[in-house]
Amino acid sequence: MASESQNWVFMVTAQTPTNIAVIKYWGKRDETLILPVNDSISLTLDPSHLCTTTTVAVSSAFHQDRMWLNAKEISLSGGRFQSCLREIRARACDVEDENKGIKITKEDWAKLHLHIASYNNFPTAAGLASSAAGFACLAYALGKLMDVKEDESQLSAIARQGSGSACRSLFGGFVKWIMGKEDNGSDSLAVQLADEKHWDDLVIVIAVVSSRQKETSSTSGMCESVETSLLLQHRAKFHAVCLDTSPPIFYMNDTSHRIISIAEKWNRSEEAPQVAYTFDAGPNAVLIARNRKAATSLIQRLLYYFPPNSDDLSSYIIGDKSIAKDAGI
Ligand code: ADP
Ligand code: DP6
Ligand code: CO
Repeated sequence: MASESQNWVFMVTAQTPTNIAVIKYWGKRDETLILPVNDSISLTLDPSHLCTTTTVAVSSAFHQDRMWLNAKEISLSGGRFQSCLREIRARACDVEDENKGIKITKEDWAKLHLHIASYNNFPTAAGLASSAAGFACLAYALGKLMDVKEDESQLSAIARQGSGSACRSLFGGFVKWIMGKEDNGSDSLAVQLADEKHWDDLVIVIAVVSSRQKETSSTSGMCESVETSLLLQHRAKFHAVCLDTSPPIFYMNDTSHRIISIAEKWNRSEEAPQVAYTFDAGPNAVLIARNRKAATSLIQRLLYYFPPNSDDLSSYIIGDKSIAKDAGI
């Protein structure tokens, strides 16, 4: 370490949005490398909407790798964190900060320890893809810190080893995770299908039905589906596969079902559909309105049945604050 003083910290902060799959990933063919049994397609949210902010810091004064998630220390001993750290460290380059008089060589990175602080601005482990934003942000921030030269697709294959859905958050817009064929996972990565300007009239509204941690994590849920669901091989709808799992996994609840009914009824009463809906592994609704006008109308309809902070619904998260204002929240 070419720094005279021990009192230096070198850090990078990154922010990464979450992504919501429209064709869902559900099931792995390799649990360690996180290789899926199907391709998936998602929509990355606007960075001002649901996102993770992660700061990664390195200093010769740090004696072990440590991480804090939402201000609480968590263990980094799990294989997923270790895979991401190992893969990024293996690609680290020399980094120099002349102002601070710091030079960290490739070899130094293997010996230096990291402190990582991450914060999700939305509920964690509640079915809004916190693992996606979280591990994508981690891979990206570590890559920046260590001046890793890999492009987004190559970084996506590293983020994938933290959480499968994370590989898709390295890109904005519409993204495909190509399942790949290789046993070593080298071709299982994300590519951008269309950038964020594509269909930029669409407005995403999140109805947080419950911000509680889900009972069945995505990881264990999909593992049980692979073992027991006969529907899975037909790539049938994700929630149908969950119900077909033994014992069945209930991610949606009564409120989720009622939100679907409201959307369906409204769409049928109009000439063209106004809103699409999708649910990840949890009861929270991701509603995609065709434009701002539809979004305002949608929120007003939902508010009528489900006021925020009621027994049935916790809150609405709307990326565009002016739409929230127009709708009266
Ligand atoms: P979700 O539906 O929110 O993605 P998962 O069960 O798939 O729920 O994943 C939740 C797990 O993801 C958390 O328990 C934690 O291990 C990890 N995670 C969530 N947020 C972050 C983050 N910001 N940084 C790193 N890991 C995170
Ligand atoms: C329903 O990526 O959270 O959101 O790879 O085990 O971490 P692990 O699972 P995760 O699963 C996401 C499942 C989903 C669908 C999707 O995002 O494609
Ligand atoms: Co997840």
